[in-house]
Amino acid sequence: MKIIAATQEIKKVLTSLKSSHKTIGLVPTMGALHKGHLSLVEKSIAENDVTVVSIFVNPTQFDNKEDLENYPSTLEKDLKLLEKTGCDFIFTPDSNEVYDHQIVSEHFSFDGLEHEMEGRHRKNHFDGVGTIVSKLFDITKPTRAYFGEKDFQQLQIIKKLVNIKQLNIQIVGCKICREQDGLAMSSRNIRLSDEHRKAAPFIHQTLQEVKQKAASFSFPELSDWVKNKFEKQTLLELEYFEIAEEKSLQTVKIKKENEPYRAFIAVFAGPIRLIDNIALSI
Ligand code: PAF
Repeated sequence: MKIIAATQEIKKVLTSLKSSHKTIGLVPTMGALHKGHLSLVEKSIAENDVTVVSIFVNPTQFDNKEDLENYPSTLEKDLKLLEKTGCDFIFTPDSNEVYDHQIVSEHFSFDGLEHEMEGRHRKNHFDGVGTIVSKLFDITKPTRAYFGEKDFQQLQIIKKLVNIKQLNIQIVGCKICREQDGLAMSSRNIRLSDEHRKAAPFIHQTLQEVKQKAASFSFPELSDWVKNKFEKQTLLELEYFEIAEEKSLQTVKIKKENEPYRAFIAVFAGPIRLIDNIALSI
């Protein structure tokens, strides 16, 4: 496993591997790795000749300075975990180099996907994600790139990005990895207080109940039911709950049979913001 920080160096190594017809799998991360990330790395290793994991806390996708400053950083531990997976390269760029000393986002239009849910609550977030992911794609020129379904809106936006820019990259979405009690794995979980950590599985439990009720309740009824449940919860504050169509991510009020719908949720557990989602069958 080789750790490379210089953009030109990783470009050179990967260009040479690509010219000898090696397939390249990219797993973009912001570090503080957990089993969810490692499952993406393992999938990439199984499907490609070469796997690159990038570790970069991207400043432009944070709308909140405090969130950026508090984002967990566990590089030494991350490298130990990655060593065990057998991945080939770790790319740890410097922000000035990757942003060429101008830490600003490009502006994107993702056919409206960027205005839904997370886009409404995290200003310019998807411009930041689009900017860094475009840069990483340009530097590493992957055959495939791997993203978790916990950030389902991000996954759809990156598929759209590849489509808009006509990039020959296969975007692979991977199932959400959960703790034993159902909490979706996230780098932010390690910042939860003990009491918030104990309360947090309520989020997935609620989504599971939504899934059970989806066929017999209307979507507005389900939204009210979820809001009610969270009002009785003192430790968790609901930011949004929405049922949306999987591809357009547009909120659905009147359901149709056999449409691919998903329920999305964002919750504050104290200062920590957690998101989750679940596919619904109607
Ligand atoms: O999902 C993440 O960790 C980040 O949004 C990503 C895709 C690595 C871009 O910074």
